[in-house]
Amino acid sequence: MNSSRYAVIVGSGSYLPTEIIPNSHFLAHKFFDTRGTQLDKSNKEIIDKFEEITGIHERRYVTNDLVASDIGFFAAEQALKSSHVDRESLDYIIVAQNFGNIAQCNHRSECIPSLASRVKQKLGIKNPKTVAYDIPFGCAGWLQAVIQANSFIKSGEAERVLVIGAETLSRTADPHDRDSMIYSDGAGAILLEGKMSDTPVGILSHITETYANGHAFTIYMGKSNDPGHATGEVFLKMHGHKLYEYALKLVPNVIKASIDKAGLTFEDINMLLIHQANQKMDEAIFERLAGLYGVSNPPKDIMPMTISWLGNSSVATVPTLYDLVSRGQLDNYRIKKRDVIVFAAVGAGININSLVYRVPND
Ligand SMILES: CC(C)(COP(=O)(O)OP(=O)(O)OC[C@H]1O[C@@H](n2cnc3c(N)ncnc32)[C@H](O)[C@@H]1OP(=O)(O)O)[C@@H](O)C(=O)NCCC(=O)NCCS
Repeated sequence: MNSSRYAVIVGSGSYLPTEIIPNSHFLAHKFFDTRGTQLDKSNKEIIDKFEEITGIHERRYVTNDLVASDIGFFAAEQALKSSHVDRESLDYIIVAQNFGNIAQCNHRSECIPSLASRVKQKLGIKNPKTVAYDIPFGCAGWLQAVIQANSFIKSGEAERVLVIGAETLSRTADPHDRDSMIYSDGAGAILLEGKMSDTPVGILSHITETYANGHAFTIYMGKSNDPGHATGEVFLKMHGHKLYEYALKLVPNVIKASIDKAGLTFEDINMLLIHQANQKMDEAIFERLAGLYGVSNPPKDIMPMTISWLGNSSVATVPTLYDLVSRGQLDNYRIKKRDVIVFAAVGAGININSLVYRVPND
């Protein structure tokens, strides 16, 4: 039989920031619309509505002493420990991030050196052949880095790649924009390794699409909604409803294309790990995906969710989900041998990606 080379996950880690921020934290905020007019509803009403439409009741922020590369390092260290791989044997460390390190003291973004170089130094890796770089690709960045790692591994260019997603959105969110209540901080990582197999295992297929034409600035950087905030500082902004509509229309098709490419169908999927953007949106994407296969009552228990208590930590949501599930720390979800897991994400760009993974037998 002919053996082929596949990329399989051999370790994972995550970091859940320690500051738990309940929705009541925002009761003291002043919220304005994008024209700078203060919202005429009470904060209690705004927060209740927010919880109703997103499913989020709390999120996590990092403590003042930490930046994105610190928490990326924590997740990476855990992934290495769980894999028992010699860290000096890594070929690549790829960090997905979009804002670099933003320190609490000055809120300026630092991308030099790359977060990957900083993580490499913190991991104490001396091998110059461990190439470290970052990838900015919106919330879909971590999954895109996994797709790059897969290409390196399949081509023989690399044997082991550590893929990290780390973000501190609390440092770039506008406190006067109600949409900012979605955002949170976090980090997750997996370690991928090459494996020869007679049957397809590990990463089976993937699809990525970029809808920049007309949609590039659906998520963008802009000034605070507070007209009194005149520092020139810019914050993460979005046309949330537009994004919601595009995501519903486009993401199910991309996921289906990746499942088709793997030669599988909806019933073969044991778990869908989707970017935690908004509970309502993720559930609607799942329903539409099932609908594309003519399935009207899809099983509810194949899509683990963390959004209600971890919020939207951008590149960190999917690897964190994977890590929590693989450690048996998320409700009754368990990953079993031969399971098929679909990973999917959507975010700034607009970038959408989806990847199909089969858990190996050993
Ligand atoms: C931002 C978002 C939560 C808004 O939800 P939505 O259902 O599209 O909201 P709509 O604009 O249709 O407004 C519905 C109601 O919610 C209110 N609302 C909208 N955004 C709100 C917010 N952030 N907080 C509180 N209330 C909000 C509106 O005022 C409206 O209230 P009404 O029914 O009393 O008039 C949602 O669009 C979303 O999650 N988008 C995608 C987020 C995402 O993926 N971001 C990417 C970063 S990775």
